[in-house]
Amino acid sequence: MAGFLNSSIGKKFLMSISGLFLILFVGLHATLNSLLLIGPDTYNIAAHFMATNVFIKIMEPILALGFIVHIIYAFILEISNYYKRGPVRYAMTVRRHQSTWSSRNMIWLGIIIFVFLAVHLANFFWKVKFGGVPETTVNGVKMHDTYTLVVSLFQANIWIDLLYVLGAIALGFHLHHAFWSAFQTLGWSNEKWRKIWTTLGDIYAVIIAFTFGIIPLYFYFVK
Ligand code: HEM
Repeated sequence: MAGFLNSSIGKKFLMSISGLFLILFVGLHATLNSLLLIGPDTYNIAAHFMATNVFIKIMEPILALGFIVHIIYAFILEISNYYKRGPVRYAMTVRRHQSTWSSRNMIWLGIIIFVFLAVHLANFFWKVKFGGVPETTVNGVKMHDTYTLVVSLFQANIWIDLLYVLGAIALGFHLHHAFWSAFQTLGWSNEKWRKIWTTLGDIYAVIIAFTFGIIPLYFYFVK
């Protein structure tokens, strides 16, 4: 087992499993965020459910592990591929015509998402966990007013909004390659299925990027 996980295909396997898990997470997170557009009570009730639900509490450390595995193995693979490629640069020129911009820049897209994520966790997650969030009462239940936390940040500073839009666009391009690639690595792909995964992945990437990107702009320019 340790031998498999240390092999090149083993590392790719861990990348794809953790990546698919993160793909599910961003879908759930975008769905929850879209409730911000409905109103404070709906969003706060949903956020309160997520913060207090036992299943979600169990999933939280697993999610953190998913991010850590995905990031560490991305760097290990990138570095070992760099050394393996060595001086054979002509091979790269041939590949350049067959690969997409996203696939060639996955590590850079990942780094942008990582920087975004660090700022994002400091903005919200840290405050929700360790204090700094106003409270509200909905239907007699006392809870965090996460709606006000999010909306007041998005209305205060256009640069934060633009960082969120950049994070959303980087995530969209990352998913554009990652979605079908994960299924390919797991062996769940052939010529026909590659087309299906690519189409589904592109639809998913656009919906996710649009949902994450439009929310800060809506609260800054419209609300
Ligand atoms: C409009 C954009 C976004 C908004 C309004 C938003 C909002 C939030 C809020 C309020 C929390 C704290 C939830 C809590 O602990 O109760 C949170 C946590 C988190 N967000 Fe976001 N988020 C956005 C985009 C993203 C994106 C693009 C990613 C991933 C690339 C992401 C990843 C995370 C992670 C990993 C956590 C910590 C785990 C959790 O609490 O669920 N977020 N977000």
